[in-house]
Amino acid sequence: MPVPRETFLSNVWREGIFKDKVLFCTGGAGTICSMQVRVFVALGGNACITGRNAEKTEKGAADIASVRPGAKVIGIVADVRDMKAMDAAAERCATELGSIDFAIAGAAGNFLAPMSQLSSNAFKTVMEIDTLGSFHTAKAVLPYLAQSVQKHKNSGKAEPTGTGGRIIFISASFHFRGQPLQAHAMAAKAAVDQISSSVAMEYGPHGITSNVITPGPIAGTEGLERLSESDERSVKESKAKIPVGRWGEVKEIADATVFLFSDAGSYVNGHVLVVDGGQWRTTGTDMGSTWKYPDFFLSGATVEGVKGGKKSKL
Ligand code: COA
Repeated sequence: MPVPRETFLSNVWREGIFKDKVLFCTGGAGTICSMQVRVFVALGGNACITGRNAEKTEKGAADIASVRPGAKVIGIVADVRDMKAMDAAAERCATELGSIDFAIAGAAGNFLAPMSQLSSNAFKTVMEIDTLGSFHTAKAVLPYLAQSVQKHKNSGKAEPTGTGGRIIFISASFHFRGQPLQAHAMAAKAAVDQISSSVAMEYGPHGITSNVITPGPIAGTEGLERLSESDERSVKESKAKIPVGRWGEVKEIADATVFLFSDAGSYVNGHVLVVDGGQWRTTGTDMGSTWKYPDFFLSGATVEGVKGGKKSKL
């Protein structure tokens, strides 16, 4: 479905800055990542997006490609937990589109569950999707990013062929401030931040930059729908606790992505760019009426809909 340009792109970026460059993005059909890819394609690039669900991934790729006549966007079915599948996806992307100049490790899984209802397999599943998946993504694309650096060397001055050799990991702020019902996601995302640091340190000398984007509550996303209460009072309270007084727009994550991938972000490496209106500096234990802290944990209540029907046992 055509998306109005002003909903995913600020008016400050130059047309064609990613012309003939290629972006590889895991989880690229998701609400946030698809906008990051869309903005890259709108500004001249081509892309490969990966996902586990064939229909969602292929539809997502076609939808993103519609943003610019002549754009090439390939949907590749691959599970980030499978290193071989990620290697194959990266190889296919570089072969069919000519290179991988940029990457986004965006695939993630999450749900609300207290530790008492969280099985070992549930914890492991999120660790495998978020953490291992981000590691696999980095391992699969780094050789191609290194080749891109050779073609698009960056001295910090405005370069004639633009930039290349950059990776962004999508994280979260739960672990900065503490967030009940998110033991699995806090552990996984803390580790993702550290993987980015390692890439920055070990591959920076090869000219590759690695950064994290940490989105706050972004309107219209699956994450916000699934992880927060949606009645009018809860929404109002949630917004009131964010220093800028509102939820973010997907465009604001897309803009941060363009900044980090563009010439403007050339000296930014090993950074965690939090795009959340200042939310993480306010408390994370304010969970709305259903999961009110600490009452929920003292009451013996359970989170409804936990897969496998696990019950709270303290
Ligand atoms: N609450 C608690 N445990 C859950 C859960 C939930 N809502 N969803 C899955 N699990 C547990 C399962 O019960 C299982 O553990 P068990 O074997 O002890 O029962 C384990 O996690 C693996 O679940 P499974 O459904 O086999 O894994 P999967 O790889 O197919 O999917 C997710 C895992 C996280 C992707 C899945 O929960 C999901 O589809 N989430 C919604 C999409 C999403 O996360 N989007 C990201 C933005 S919020």
